[in-house]
Amino acid sequence: MGKGLAKQLQIHGGNLLQGELRISGAKNAALPIMAASLLTEEPCRLENVPGLADVDNAAGILEDLGAIVGREADGVLTITARGTIGSHVPDFRARGMRASILFMGPLLARNGEAVLAKPGGDDIGMRRVDQHVAGLTQMGATVSEEDGSFACRAERLHGADILLDMPTVTGTENLMMAATLADGHTTISNAAREPHISDLASALNAMGAKITSAGTDRIEIEGVDQLGSGHHRVCPDYLEAGTYAIAAAATGGDVLLLDCPVVDLRSLITKLRQAGVSVEVDAEGMRVRRDGPLQPVDLITWTYPGFATDLQPQYAALMTQASGTAVIQEFLFENRFNYVSELNALGARIELFPHRRGIRVHGPSQLRGNVVTIPDIRAGAALMIGALCARGGTLLGGVEHLDRGYEDMAGKLSRLGAQVRATASRPDPTPADLAANPASE
Ligand code: EPU
Repeated sequence: MGKGLAKQLQIHGGNLLQGELRISGAKNAALPIMAASLLTEEPCRLENVPGLADVDNAAGILEDLGAIVGREADGVLTITARGTIGSHVPDFRARGMRASILFMGPLLARNGEAVLAKPGGDDIGMRRVDQHVAGLTQMGATVSEEDGSFACRAERLHGADILLDMPTVTGTENLMMAATLADGHTTISNAAREPHISDLASALNAMGAKITSAGTDRIEIEGVDQLGSGHHRVCPDYLEAGTYAIAAAATGGDVLLLDCPVVDLRSLITKLRQAGVSVEVDAEGMRVRRDGPLQPVDLITWTYPGFATDLQPQYAALMTQASGTAVIQEFLFENRFNYVSELNALGARIELFPHRRGIRVHGPSQLRGNVVTIPDIRAGAALMIGALCARGGTLLGGVEHLDRGYEDMAGKLSRLGAQVRATASRPDPTPADLAANPASE
């Protein structure tokens, strides 16, 4: 790829996805666990870490703060944060991803100080962090906000009885990490229950933390004086697995997902079966297959174990292929339908409700290739699914969003029989260019 040219993906739609696919480690588990490595001076060995731009950014933060990050083949990272560790997360890194907020709790616990710019990341809603701040304040920290940055200080954190306004995922993780080294006992009520919360608790407990009931809405943490070395295998990514399950169903394919966290996908599996998709689970993995028509099935997103907001855009892409109208409502984020105009540009017929918290998807639509731009990670996955179902060529711009959340998506899809290839962007490509030059791999 030429220097300075943005990557795009060229997709020639119409192929069924078929074959086996191994699911990668979970982004949303790997990121907090990497931040947690700052809670100990001893080395932490992490396996099954996915190769993603957000993981590289988190590794960059660790290195900028003074930790040593070793990268081995096959997704193994070794992080050693010995000696003096900085307290200031570089602004460009904090603004580069939402998960940078996860360094607030560990830095406060380790250094008694944390300075970081307000996090950036996907523009899917207001994405407040007031609950992180309120919880840390209850544990004895002072947090001030100036010029778009947080400055946090604490002589010593102490345990607290924290009741969250809502089960925020990274908020629960930040408080859990801070509490591991606080004096005394912390309870987090109305805690998030996502699988990555339990995975972070397992990683911390392997380092010597005393956390119980992670995965329920009331987490108990008994503070300890110090943590030791860690060794943890990051859990498989239920959001990646769900995305490929939906892609297989949308194309009328037949895919066996290996290393698939089936229990975490219960709400999606229910919806897929209701829609007429065959989902079979055995010791080998989860097989998703469709050879008949799709029924429209409504949904509302919810916190875990409800239907994940991170699978809502992909599900909407699936419903463009159903015979009838499905209503999809978004409970968590106020701006998570920003893919609708682009999916409609591929020929979908989706109406956004005036209050913008729900859509009506009318199917079935014969999608057609076009030039579209990805606005955020999961919207990108939805547009990819649309492109796989479309007749003709699609050029996807904004591919850097996919690289933040999906390990080698183009390679994985190609191995399942899709025609996807990376290309350098040219100014103003048109649908006519695409028809003349479809993807060839
Ligand atoms: N909220 C507040 N105050 C807070 C925290 C959250 O009002 O202090 C609100 C948010 O504005 C939002 C809701 O609570 O309306 C849920 O936000 P949450 O804090 O749970 O989201 P997050 O921790 O910022 C994580 C994932 C997201 C995923 C959400 C919901 C990571 C690194 N990110 O974000 O993942 O959508 O939980 O499950 O774990 C993605 O992977 O594509 C992604 C965006």
